[in-house]
Amino acid sequence: MCGIVGAVSERDVQGILLEGLRRLEYRGYDSAGMAVVGSESQIQRAREVGKVAALADAIEANPVAGHMGIAHTRWATHGEPSQQNAHPHMSGDRLAIVHNGIIENYQELRDELKAEGYEFTSQTDTEVVAHLINKHYQADKNLYKAVKTAMTRLRGAYALAVVHSDEPDHMVVSREGSPLVVGVGIGENFIASDQLALLPVTDRFMFLEEGDIADIRKDKIAIEDRDGNAVERSITRFEHASDSADKGEYRHYMLKEIYEQPKVVKATMTGRITDSRVLEQALGTDAAKLLENVRHVQIIACGTSYHAGMVARYWIEELAGVPCSVEVASEFRYRKHVIQQDTLFLCISQSGETADTLAALRQAKKAGFRAALAICNVPGSSLVRESDLVIMTQAGPEIGVASTKAFTTQLVALLLFSVALARHNGLSEEKEAEIVKALHLVPGQVSDVLALDGEIENMSKAFMDKNHSLFLGRGSQYPVAMEGALKLKEISYIHAEAYPAGELKHGPLALVDSEMPVVTVAPNNDLVEKLKSNLEEVRARGGELFVFADKAAGVKAEPGIHVMQLPSVHEITAPIVYTVPLQLLSYHVAVLKGTDVDQPRNLAKSVTVE
Ligand code: G6P
Repeated sequence: MCGIVGAVSERDVQGILLEGLRRLEYRGYDSAGMAVVGSESQIQRAREVGKVAALADAIEANPVAGHMGIAHTRWATHGEPSQQNAHPHMSGDRLAIVHNGIIENYQELRDELKAEGYEFTSQTDTEVVAHLINKHYQADKNLYKAVKTAMTRLRGAYALAVVHSDEPDHMVVSREGSPLVVGVGIGENFIASDQLALLPVTDRFMFLEEGDIADIRKDKIAIEDRDGNAVERSITRFEHASDSADKGEYRHYMLKEIYEQPKVVKATMTGRITDSRVLEQALGTDAAKLLENVRHVQIIACGTSYHAGMVARYWIEELAGVPCSVEVASEFRYRKHVIQQDTLFLCISQSGETADTLAALRQAKKAGFRAALAICNVPGSSLVRESDLVIMTQAGPEIGVASTKAFTTQLVALLLFSVALARHNGLSEEKEAEIVKALHLVPGQVSDVLALDGEIENMSKAFMDKNHSLFLGRGSQYPVAMEGALKLKEISYIHAEAYPAGELKHGPLALVDSEMPVVTVAPNNDLVEKLKSNLEEVRARGGELFVFADKAAGVKAEPGIHVMQLPSVHEITAPIVYTVPLQLLSYHVAVLKGTDVDQPRNLAKSVTVE
């Protein structure tokens, strides 16, 4: 998804902006560009379709040196990926703008501006904003005022950064619905859509709030809120080590992140459990008070985070006996719902900036839910700031578009939450101790699964020339199968569908033949015997099976049934451990197919537009 970087400094900003864009590459994009105000107070612009490397080459050939500039990676919404549609956009040759988000009333504004004589060179909604600001600039020759006035006309979601070559000492930025952070330097200041972009130059950040507009100079940051009041936004320090955004020895970020799981899964439970208890206080000082009266849990999320929510439903209903509903945010936000009394609204999001999830949260806050709990990986994100209670996952920055460590750490956080909630609903001390002991074993079990990497890589060859695949699971392993299918389709582009194994005979069995590999996760729980019959149904139709199974489950390898034995795992924690081989399988299939593993086509890491 689109990324923004900007800098006002004593030094030449080209390198800072390029490095910032490189660090935003993981979000997914199709073109990149930069505009810098040069020493003659002229705007120099470079834009290229494709990778940031292409922009870097263009800039090397034709430098755009200067002390203030803005840069962008674009993910097409209005208009195809092309140089003309790439940002920054200009109005005349003195005003340049970068924009994330979507302007909903752009057509109306475009018609209006066209009628006034403005000419459009792109199909984007951003160029409309450039001309609109320019139009207001003509009145007072004051960029700040012009942006502020233009904001009153914009409907939709945006983060903007604007420069004007007649005002070479400052840029004006604003946000409404899309994230924007100010990086605080010494004698220089920065802006970006994601703090990761700025880690080489600062670790101090101010998060702009909805409706904020800010004047950014090298020695001064002035912010006004939506109502025009001068406001201070507190400075927070970035918490993770700056090298966590590097690939290190790994070939891809995704592989690095898969391998980080023993560490980050452990980090997410550390300080929150003893040998035998979940420390409720560690989930937030108000956790006990808040959980006591919860009678229903409504989980909202998108993508991989939604699958984490689906696993949590099994835990919440089984351990706490509290009814739980799970829905994707984009559906939830557009329908009427019946809110049961004392419902806790639980949002799960790696980024904390997913537009649909945030919109659902904002609706829920108006609709009378008991409270909003967020499970999130990014401190300072909109979701974290707007929720009543937060359980942070400790995954560290996740760069690969296909989510891996964020998912397993979300599961850990959700299990801690489920146990805490269950304690208010009659969970026995013995059962709690049993689960907590099982949790302590998970990092080691994940390491054991990682040790099977070579075998899984071998297995992946069978998928290389296939066009379709089926993933089966039962109970809490059904969402694990869904997550496995999502991973495979995201990065290898093989069509993958997940089914609860019991539904096989109600449709998908018709598709099964030797060209349709069937992947199954089979921990040793009380559903394993039923699952074995489902496997027979596949085998009888000539389907080739790839089974990840607990030794004790007794699934035997035979022609057409490939079995990978996994460590024995407690039934409750099994979804965390069984996810990992499916991640590795997808990874290796994608590598064999030669796809762009970390930045799969058409996808974005953080979907900040609807
Ligand atoms: C995008 C990403 C997915 C992610 C989903 C939800 O689609 O590509 O990996 O699961 O957004 O993101 P969130 O940050 O809310 O978890």
